[in-house]
Amino acid sequence: MDRERAKREIERLREIIRYHDYRYYVLNSPEISDEEYDALMRKLEELEALFPDLVTPDSPTQRVGGKPQEGFVPFTHARPMLSLNNAFTEEEMRDFDRRVKRMLGTETVEYVVELKIDGLAVNLRYEGGVFVRGATRGDGTTGEDVTLNLRTIRSIPLRLFGEKVPSLIEVQGEVFMHKGDFEKLNEERAKRGEPLFANTRNAAAGSLRQLDPNVTAQRKLDIFVYGAYLIESPWYPTTHWELLHFLKDLGFKVNPNAQLARDIEEVIAVHREWEEKRKTLDYDIDGLVVKVNNLTFQELLGATSKSPRWAIAYKFEPTRAVTRVLDIEVNVGRTGTLTPVAVLEPVEVGGVVVRRATLHNEDEVRRKDVRIGDWVIVGRAGEVIPEVVLVLKERRDGSERIFTMPTSCPVCHSPVVREEGEVAVRCINANCPAQIKERLRHFASRDAMDIEGLGEKLIDQLVDKGYVRTIPDLYRLTKEKLLKLERMGDKSSENLLQAIERSKKRPLARFLYALGIRYVGEFVAQLLAEHFGSLRKIMEASFEDLLAVEGIGPKVAEAVWQFFRNPENRAMLEELEALGVVPEEETAEVAASLEGPLQGKTFVFTGTLSRFSRKEAEELVRQRGGRVANAVSRKVDYLVVGENPGGKLEEARQKNVRILTEEEFYEMMGA
Ligand code: IVH
Repeated sequence: MDRERAKREIERLREIIRYHDYRYYVLNSPEISDEEYDALMRKLEELEALFPDLVTPDSPTQRVGGKPQEGFVPFTHARPMLSLNNAFTEEEMRDFDRRVKRMLGTETVEYVVELKIDGLAVNLRYEGGVFVRGATRGDGTTGEDVTLNLRTIRSIPLRLFGEKVPSLIEVQGEVFMHKGDFEKLNEERAKRGEPLFANTRNAAAGSLRQLDPNVTAQRKLDIFVYGAYLIESPWYPTTHWELLHFLKDLGFKVNPNAQLARDIEEVIAVHREWEEKRKTLDYDIDGLVVKVNNLTFQELLGATSKSPRWAIAYKFEPTRAVTRVLDIEVNVGRTGTLTPVAVLEPVEVGGVVVRRATLHNEDEVRRKDVRIGDWVIVGRAGEVIPEVVLVLKERRDGSERIFTMPTSCPVCHSPVVREEGEVAVRCINANCPAQIKERLRHFASRDAMDIEGLGEKLIDQLVDKGYVRTIPDLYRLTKEKLLKLERMGDKSSENLLQAIERSKKRPLARFLYALGIRYVGEFVAQLLAEHFGSLRKIMEASFEDLLAVEGIGPKVAEAVWQFFRNPENRAMLEELEALGVVPEEETAEVAASLEGPLQGKTFVFTGTLSRFSRKEAEELVRQRGGRVANAVSRKVDYLVVGENPGGKLEEARQKNVRILTEEEFYEMMGA
């Protein structure tokens, strides 16, 4: 092939590849298969090998290359890269809005609301439409030249597209790592015994600051571009919204979730939505960035030495924090399982003060290597239960103590056992006070029998005083006895007795769950209740009958069967019946016969609702012919999520159950 033809062919291939890179890395919507793409790339590589003088730096073949660098060259930004002021509350946002309007002397200001990506800021310079230099923000004035590493990020265009390519432009964006890539990276590091990254931001920063671009290339970083200085351009946008679209047309990856808000109240509403929805993203965000849309307004507002006056970061409550492990205690659960729990220096995580975090079991303590005295990162698993995410081993000074699991129960001192093939160590004394208390606590809890007012402290007193040892004992409590307890007056005793009385007629599924049978969570309880319809039938069911229930395996069937064969358990159930505890029977037919717009639809609730009580909300569903379940299963249609949702949220996501915010739920109910 002659040089001229090769040149044309090279140009043609590059253009095609650039287009497919854009489809794949920027729009996430490829048009050709990986094989077809690889074939194009190979062809280009072959031609470039034949005519090495035709290789240019903006060729798609030139993303990764070169040797590790010795160090990064400091880079002074042409304009300082500013930071943002933070706001955490609605009031702070309204203050921001008032300030903006006062300075502009206007009544209305429109905003663009963007996601605040949790990564690191970079500045990219394009000359004649070609990427020439990229640098980290650094301290705002001086960053580091990381051009070679940035070139490996496939969503950063090496050459811009379209009719309106500016001759000189600098864009700003956030380089980040996807959650999945972060987890994989940490898994690999754990295997190799290397220190783990605490979060996606640190992982992204660590990866971009690699001296060897080949390492950066393997880390699969990504970028969202959110701003630009157009220096020489045939065309200038007049609003930030237009600028975002312009950047997108040039081939940059712009976050698709940016939206326009007509006023600050709309901004606040968007923030509320994302507080919940952020969990569905496959990258971390730590808030929203709110920007005045009109670029002339932006200019009028200007900036202080640190941050622009036309933008603000509207943060979410953090869901992770650093604190210290003061001690590791051992909890005894209702089935006798010993659980190590980290006692923490109190720290606020996502709006709640966390004092303790579960360490799950002995193997987990070893795996994470948590020691007493360690500095750790705590997070809220599924955003609810606090857990130790990571130990900051570099902060150790040698005074930390290794934890060992006790060989006897810390409460009743009987020996503990660890069954073959199980991670859990358990106390097998069924009369262990810790187990009794936990059983009662579980029985009375909200998702079980929902006995209002019967909390942990009260149960401790009832058991310690010897008033209650078994579940039936609860139904024999008298006002006289209650009055002898600390902080129990006339009114509170009466309220508690009434709450206990009300619990006598809970749905069967709740009752089954409340019994605390091994492996019978809310979901299994629901399956059993629906299949058998009555407690009697479950008690009489054979192992085979139980196994025949869809969704129940041999391990569960065995546990349920054993529970009801146990004479002590049978006696307890007889006693309960005699005391008037008769769970409401439940059948699928009854539920399906209801009429209404929600007929055949099943709802589950989690978290605290703000407008209605849980019971009222459930009633709304039933009035419309829907049904309410206690547990998430594939048969559930909607999970309604209130504040501080439980593990059901994660379960719903895994089972592809539609998630409704409280607002969406009310809308659906027409309430
Ligand atoms: S605008 C002139 N928009 O947040 C101010 N920043 O706390 C330019 N960030 O340094 C910032 N997402 O690293 C802007 N959509 C977004 C952002 C964003 C993440 C980061 C950026 C910045 C920091 C400020």
